Amino acid sequence: MKYVFPDNFLWGGATAANQIEGAYLADGKGLSTADMLPNGIFGDRVERKEGDHALKDLAIDFYHRYPEDIALFAEMGFKCLRISIAWTRIFPMGDEDIPNEAGLAFYDRVLDEMAKYGIEPLVTLSHYEMPYGLVTRYGGWADRATIDCFERYARTVFERYRHKVKYWLTFNEINCALHAPFNGIGLSAQSSKQDIYQAIHHQLVASARAVRACHELIPGARIGNMIIGALMYPLSSRPADVLKSQWKNREWLYFSDVQARGAYPAYMGRLFRELGVTLDITPQDRIDLGHTVDFISFSYYMTGCVTTDEQLNQQARGNILSMVPNPHLPSSEWGWQIDPIGLRIILNELYDRYQKPLFVVENGLGAKDIIDKEGAINDDYRISYLNDHLAQIGEALQDGVEVMGYTSWGPIDLISASTAQMSKRYGFIYVDRDDAGKGSLARRRKKSFYWYADIIKSNGAHLK
Ligand code: BG6
Repeated sequence: MKYVFPDNFLWGGATAANQIEGAYLADGKGLSTADMLPNGIFGDRVERKEGDHALKDLAIDFYHRYPEDIALFAEMGFKCLRISIAWTRIFPMGDEDIPNEAGLAFYDRVLDEMAKYGIEPLVTLSHYEMPYGLVTRYGGWADRATIDCFERYARTVFERYRHKVKYWLTFNEINCALHAPFNGIGLSAQSSKQDIYQAIHHQLVASARAVRACHELIPGARIGNMIIGALMYPLSSRPADVLKSQWKNREWLYFSDVQARGAYPAYMGRLFRELGVTLDITPQDRIDLGHTVDFISFSYYMTGCVTTDEQLNQQARGNILSMVPNPHLPSSEWGWQIDPIGLRIILNELYDRYQKPLFVVENGLGAKDIIDKEGAINDDYRISYLNDHLAQIGEALQDGVEVMGYTSWGPIDLISASTAQMSKRYGFIYVDRDDAGKGSLARRRKKSFYWYADIIKSNGAHLK
């Protein structure tokens, strides 16, 4: 046997409410920031007009089709399913005193369905969405009032689902706020660095308060953070490039440094001085930040390079997270560079840094799929991508890294976050819908469906 995964390894898939549920105004749900980003997360808000349509409004209609979808996940042998709760289903405007019962009841139904098959839920409190009402009334995370609103929401769902959910995550890819401010913190991309870092600070405090509340309300539960794992290599061995990559990595690691260690790392002092940022951190904030996460979770899709060569840096503009392409790596159809070994590197780095268990809660290949004449979807490219990344997790386990589980992104095709497309597919399960919104929404098993079922059944022993 090549790789040995722990017996309790949580194999599964990961989703987000706004990318699968649809029903964007059903049963009292309020508008979210995700609803105001119909073209993808990197833009600024688009005002929605009466009668307009966005692909996400219906998404893949998980809101009504969840029994069928969960049955398909169970057929693959999922031990775990990552879902997120749409905050706006529970508190439509964000600052109500009383939650929306219809929203709470929906997630009861979903969680009960998962329990039927023994699928362990991993629940993200906020996956790239917040109530739009908090943006219009308070300016999003710019205002401390939003921390209290989030804590009220977190306490509400902890109390409600305390017997159903053991694993929680606070904010999805909290460290993306610097790159997509409206999506992450409800601020316009034109906001000053001062305002952006202050809003991020409020979100970090809110995350820590959710950790405290979870520990108080659900003994035995485990709550983690969630960051984008954006490993940056130096483009050359020139010390200046190596130094620059160290600082570039700190840009995304400082979030988990705060969440895992309970305080800002020393290097942020220099960064804030150079940017002219002075954070308002109250004594109570410092105490709150001391509530650190139980485990570190992250998404992993690609790596990139960093250089001090300004000409080459121009190439990086417009790429996600401004990465200079690595000449040694292939790319996906969307230009994301594929680097399985980088996953082993990042697992080792994070484990060395925090000595906390790690959970890979997103990874996968966005690709166009073709249905052949027999009706089959032979997505060997996806199988090979996933196999190679899982094999590197197997290696990291042998390195001694503690990995709790792996939930591949989008086990069923869903709406892409960055480009709001349906045609960027990640699933083991195909959904009949195109970028224009046409299609029956029927579900169909791809070749990777059977492959993943076999990998789970063999607990990783069949990985190549
Ligand atoms: C992560 C997000 O950044 O990447 C997901 O947490 C997202 O919401 C995933 O869908 C893949 O990105 P994309 O743009 O291909 O959907």
